[in-house]
Amino acid sequence: MTSITTRALLEMKEKGERIVALTCYDALFARLLDACGIDILLVGDSLNQVLAGAPSTLSATLDQMIYHTTMVRRGTEGGRAMVVCDMPFLSYQVSPEDALRNCGRALKETGCHAVKIEGGQPMAATVRRLVDVGIPVMGHIGLTPQSVHALGGYRVQGRDDAAAGRLKADATALQDAGAFAVVLELVPAPLASQITKSLAIPTIGIGAGPACDGQVLVLHDMLGLNDQFSAKFVKKYAALAEDVREAARVFAAEVREGRYPGPEHSFGK
Ligand code: KIV
Repeated sequence: MTSITTRALLEMKEKGERIVALTCYDALFARLLDACGIDILLVGDSLNQVLAGAPSTLSATLDQMIYHTTMVRRGTEGGRAMVVCDMPFLSYQVSPEDALRNCGRALKETGCHAVKIEGGQPMAATVRRLVDVGIPVMGHIGLTPQSVHALGGYRVQGRDDAAAGRLKADATALQDAGAFAVVLELVPAPLASQITKSLAIPTIGIGAGPACDGQVLVLHDMLGLNDQFSAKFVKKYAALAEDVREAARVFAAEVREGRYPGPEHSFGK
């Protein structure tokens, strides 16, 4: 099976083929999503909120990201999807050398194909350092959740001319530093469209309108599993939280009423 490489993503942009990405945190979902032809499985540090129940991504650790990325990589063994490890807060911001050590560790220990780091122009030297030693880097600009406190909350970015100009410069700086793709999060659709047209590398949007070269969503949000979270940009393709509750209710009732297990679930000898 052909696997998705950085070169393949570039060719998809050139041909106008949309790139499909989802977050993924474990081997079971990785196997299911890879079999459906999802191009990129992003082991997002959003797992700190979605799985661990934390208020933000800030407390995710490198060891946790390595643990989950290893699982996802295991689930795609022999498959097609590109696996990207999201680097957690303070694993790459201290210095390019520190970033190299930590991103190198992610690549070596998990078998992932690339890393993702947040930030634009201030991270360009770090991206260059990583790319120069052969670590593929996906950038991430717009709403960068690791800066949620500095940004004053989870808000759409680039709304005024100055901020829009900064985002355009950020995207160009990441491309020039060697990033193979850039996530645009919570960016007005017309601005995301301009950035997408201006870059040779693909943009992957989340809350950034339809013109991006690809789209990413948090898996548990689009499956309707995380029903405590809703946002304008999230389309729910299933309502699994209700399925889970209903299955658990029926199981509890059957156990309490002595209807489960039945003879077909029991061993005679
Ligand atoms: O952590 C994450 O899930 C992400 C995506 C939302 C892009 O960074």
